[in-house]
Amino acid sequence: MCGISGIIDHHPVTRNLVTSIANLEYRGYDSCGMALLNGKGIEVRKNTGGVQEVRSREKLDNMTGNLGIAHTRWATHGGVTPENAHPHLSQSGDFAIVHNGIISNYQKLRESLIGEGIEFRSTTDSEVFVNLVEEAYEQKKDVLGAFLEALKQIQGTYSIVLLSAHDPENLYCVKQDSPLIIGLGEGCNYIGSDINAFLEHTRKAVVLDDGEFAVISRDSYEISDVGKREEREKSILQIDWDTETTKKGVFSHYMIKEIFDEPQTARQALDVPQEQISQLVEMFQNAPRAYLMGVGTTFFICQMAQYLFSSLSQRYFPAISADEFNGVVPVVSDDLVLAVSQSGETFDTKFSLNSAREKGARTAAIVNVMGSSISRLVDHVIMQGSGPEICVVSTKAALAQALLLLRTALELGFREGCLDSSTLRDHVQELETFPELISKLLNEKSGFLRNLARTTSSVQNWIFLGCGIYFPVAMESALKMKEVTYLHAEGMPAGFLKHGTLSMIEASVHSLFFIPPPADVELHNRTMIAIEEIKTRGGTLVGLHFEGDSQAASLLDHAVALPEVPLLLAPFVEMILAQMFAYYTALDLKRNIDKPRNLAKSVTVG
Ligand code: F6R
Repeated sequence: MCGISGIIDHHPVTRNLVTSIANLEYRGYDSCGMALLNGKGIEVRKNTGGVQEVRSREKLDNMTGNLGIAHTRWATHGGVTPENAHPHLSQSGDFAIVHNGIISNYQKLRESLIGEGIEFRSTTDSEVFVNLVEEAYEQKKDVLGAFLEALKQIQGTYSIVLLSAHDPENLYCVKQDSPLIIGLGEGCNYIGSDINAFLEHTRKAVVLDDGEFAVISRDSYEISDVGKREEREKSILQIDWDTETTKKGVFSHYMIKEIFDEPQTARQALDVPQEQISQLVEMFQNAPRAYLMGVGTTFFICQMAQYLFSSLSQRYFPAISADEFNGVVPVVSDDLVLAVSQSGETFDTKFSLNSAREKGARTAAIVNVMGSSISRLVDHVIMQGSGPEICVVSTKAALAQALLLLRTALELGFREGCLDSSTLRDHVQELETFPELISKLLNEKSGFLRNLARTTSSVQNWIFLGCGIYFPVAMESALKMKEVTYLHAEGMPAGFLKHGTLSMIEASVHSLFFIPPPADVELHNRTMIAIEEIKTRGGTLVGLHFEGDSQAASLLDHAVALPEVPLLLAPFVEMILAQMFAYYTALDLKRNIDKPRNLAKSVTVG
């Protein structure tokens, strides 16, 4: 996690560096800092807190220089203190680094450096590296040679950018298991842990692969292999994201802005060329076994897909949480593993994909971020094209992933003879209406959801319940509620309730039901049984239901009635409205909505 930025320019870089880490803040926001090289040497300013806070406290805008590095941190090794914030300076102050990842052998290296008289200022693993560079420089008097010498000594995962007072013409960087991308400007170049670091300045980028380092000047860059030290030719990635989507506009938070982006995101998911879906479908058809894998929200999206594949194409593809995948799935040659990941950098997902590949599995992925590790790792990738998702909690990207999986299940169902062409056509037409439908619903229902959130924001304990595909919708919605409000929200299948959790039920415990349309008879009946079980025991009932469902309406204490929608789309509609409910509850509780405490987007550590 953590955001890394570096800029080398003919002009002052201060303002662009500050903006760059502000744009990366969703990657971590415990602390931040910048290091610039100017006529007097390297100046570092850093502290705990978010970028705007540190910017004004440390007067970051008063720094000078036309090359520099910056960082926004999500602590792993070492507490959240000003000393542990990056950049880290070497003992003499002639070298500074920013680091993302974990140097696993840092303890031993630190002890040996202490033995040599180095005084450490922080308790991080990162500070070791900058002192190793300095130590090597004393022998070699060559910055690149020293950088590479220090790299030989460290183990673990890292992306590092080095700034040296001995070389005002270059920045140095390296990537190993943690993302790093070079942005190519005119008379200036950029380095970022993702493209948001420089999206405002350039749409041309080069993605570093593991084991590559780069020397970057104002007008050129050279990428080489760390082991062989041979230069590598790399292709240039054209970024087609629109910078407007990174702006909050009239909205007070990115979360609500991104929820209101969903009609557009759905459109983009529906516009992904059918050939890409067909290729994925063929992979499912050719695999002896196939697994769906994601973690957090993307796991719940995979669980939704599990139901879609089962109902539309009569195939069972288990959904497994990426962090547990390796321990439970005995992958063998030719199995298919489909990973879902917004960032394309999640450690657990990447790790499990890699080990599945080693066992001979075929791999595919649905990913949002261009140039990300997972997008380049798999045999077939579908880029979901949802644009940057800035809020730490995933909303619009999750919806797009679910729709792409729905499209896959529909085509597979058709090919396997489970859906005839007219049913398939009807479903495709329903899907075509979806962007407009969500747009209407978001506008019509936001007032109701806001009022409901005001009424219930003091509730401390929530149980979110649903049957069939509404079960993962309930799970995902409970996760959304927890992460953004910090309240306890537990998701479970409605039928599971009576096997234990029912003992918790009393008036103060609120249950939120995801109720299918009555036309979905079997699921609706099962859901109503659980509602009755709670009603009888005096629990408070809240529910999303569809118009005409008088049975549900008569039992619920608080209800949000939704207009009739096609059965296929109903779970997606409820998922979106639950995102909005979580948002308004968090708003009422004055939570740090876009950057909830303790979290970071893109969890690149295990
Ligand atoms: C929740 C959320 C996380 C992510 C999870 C996987 O709102 O965003 O649970 O879904 O960390 O991240 P990606 O999709 O980037 O692999």
